[in-house]
Amino acid sequence: MISSKRILLVIGGGIAAYKSLDLIRRLRDRGAEVTPVLTQASEHFVTPLSVSALASQKVYRDLFDLTAEAEMGHIELSRAADLVVVAPATADLMAKMAGGHANDLASTLLMATDKRVLIAPSMNVRMWEHPATRRNLARLKSDGILTVGPDEGPMACGEFGFGRMAEVPQIIAAVESALGAGPLQGRHVVVTSGPTQEPIDPVRYIANRSSGAQGTAIAAALVQLGARVTFVTGPASVPPPAGVRVVAVETARQMRDAVFDALPADVAVFAAAVADWRVANAADRKMKKDGSGRAPALEFAENPDILAEVAHLAPDQRPRLVVGFAAETDDVVAHATAKRARKGCDWILANDVSEGTGIMGGSENEVTLISAEGAELWPRMAKDEVARHLAQRIAGVVA
Ligand code: CTP
Repeated sequence: MISSKRILLVIGGGIAAYKSLDLIRRLRDRGAEVTPVLTQASEHFVTPLSVSALASQKVYRDLFDLTAEAEMGHIELSRAADLVVVAPATADLMAKMAGGHANDLASTLLMATDKRVLIAPSMNVRMWEHPATRRNLARLKSDGILTVGPDEGPMACGEFGFGRMAEVPQIIAAVESALGAGPLQGRHVVVTSGPTQEPIDPVRYIANRSSGAQGTAIAAALVQLGARVTFVTGPASVPPPAGVRVVAVETARQMRDAVFDALPADVAVFAAAVADWRVANAADRKMKKDGSGRAPALEFAENPDILAEVAHLAPDQRPRLVVGFAAETDDVVAHATAKRARKGCDWILANDVSEGTGIMGGSENEVTLISAEGAELWPRMAKDEVARHLAQRIAGVVA
């Protein structure tokens, strides 16, 4: 499974770094090629010489190692790998990753990579339980970062609790699963997300309040299950997840073209809040007040319904599973059931966005899955959880 796979191993500066030496050996025993990267702090725990000897490879040590940059720049280094593993992932490294810092070789590689990243956290139990680490972990998970461990047990510092780095066999199992054992391995999924912006003139536009949070969480959950994801996103307020191919668009028509360019796909999930209308008489120069006090009249034209177009493709071009969303304020099931029939999709995830539910803009969602089999109400849960549920259900159909 991992034979001849290239693993970029970032070793963080924690006491568990000694286990990473064994990890290198075990990965190589299974035929993987390991390129080690040491942070400055990790050199207090393991030496470049021992790491290099075990990996039979040059050790990359510092962002400003000019020889290394001449051989292989940090961007290529992070892209040449099949998987990036961070073990141990210290509280500091996790914070840097969550915050998007890039001030040394390890953090820069982690920012520059387009590959899946697996972290094995390791720290003192109080640091693990600290609200800052909780926040960072949640952020990393929603970015599509995979985690293994930590375990509970006695720690080097004399305390007991969660924070011990996962044992090597556990990390190997996670590496194997990250490298291809996911049920959606080999499946291509197109996900639309975020709002669209419809120009009025070069500086003004009509948009909506979609943050892109639900679509982003869905894409991340699909990546976690091994899918290859094309993420077609309007200008969202949350960043796209790691490990997807991002196609950034602004208007509904650009989104439509990007979706069609991304086909064929096994599955398409339409989580974007697409503007139903665009301004038909958009000006190509900034509109000026003419002094008359009269407001300009905007005319509207209907945008393409991307979901309906894809759902109605001929069977040899249509994704096997087409999933839409329906935001309703009343008669949720009835309206969503009618919408499913009208748009021709297989599933509709309907949610009640009426005032008082706190769903619009909130972190939780309560959805009903409408399919040919009928309506199924899911309990209220975090948007990330909804995403994981949906990804599992998708895997149940197309894996
Ligand atoms: N959608 C789309 N392209 C559009 C409009 C909507 O792909 N031009 C998709 C959305 O991504 C979502 C689903 O269609 O998955 C439902 O969109 P919605 O706006 O709720 O449906 P409408 O057809 O606009 O119905 P209404 O506004 O009457 O509720």
